[in-house]
Amino acid sequence: MSSEFAKEAPFYRLKQRVRHALGPWGVFLQGFLKNPVMVGSIVPSSRFTINRVLSAVDWDNTKLFVEYGPGVGTFCQPVLDRLSRDGTLLVIDLNPDFIDYLQKTITDSRFIAVNGSAADVEEIIRAHGHEKADYIISGLPFSTLPPGVGPAIASATYRVLRKGGAFLVYQFTPRAGDFMAQFFKRIDKGLEWINVPPCFLFWGWKDED
Ligand SMILES: C[S@@+](CC[C@H](N)C(=O)[O-])C[C@H]1O[C@@H](n2cnc3c(N)ncnc32)[C@H](O)[C@@H]1O
Repeated sequence: MSSEFAKEAPFYRLKQRVRHALGPWGVFLQGFLKNPVMVGSIVPSSRFTINRVLSAVDWDNTKLFVEYGPGVGTFCQPVLDRLSRDGTLLVIDLNPDFIDYLQKTITDSRFIAVNGSAADVEEIIRAHGHEKADYIISGLPFSTLPPGVGPAIASATYRVLRKGGAFLVYQFTPRAGDFMAQFFKRIDKGLEWINVPPCFLFWGWKDED
């Protein structure tokens, strides 16, 4: 069946209608159904998680804020609402459907969405004219990443952060804390109950160059 014909099929039209009715939740659910291991969650983060994770950020001294695994952008608008007018929010996601959705729905000139892996954060920010990031937030499913990828991401993140910056992580398992502890000497921890499911929070601080 040609792809044009497939798009006319009743099932395709029904799927599009359901996705449209559910808005970003529909896009997220579809991403999860396509690749559950990569997405790692069926429900986007709650506003309690968002507010709590972002409460540690010094927004006056944030020029580059990076996000790994934005999904359908649950954190993007809250970050943009807090970010200075000359700041940049650069998001990196492996799933091209999520990046396509974000590029279509977020029109803020401070926003950049890149289809790629968080492990390549150094090359990606350099390609956009930056040497260091002030803060990096991660919604990556650390416990289901392929072997070696979690430590590689934690290590690249440590290198790319400026002194005084932080790696902000929210996770359904405490595993991310283990990867972070190899590089970050100071890690603040928390648990947010009002989230599906409740999630562990980590703030890893880069105190030295
Ligand atoms: C749990 S979802 C995050 C959802 C969203 N940030 C939220 O708060 O609702 C995890 C995301 O990580 C992305 N992802 C998985 N591995 C990745 C990698 N190595 N680099 C970048 N993104 C990745 C997935 O495509 C998915 O969008």
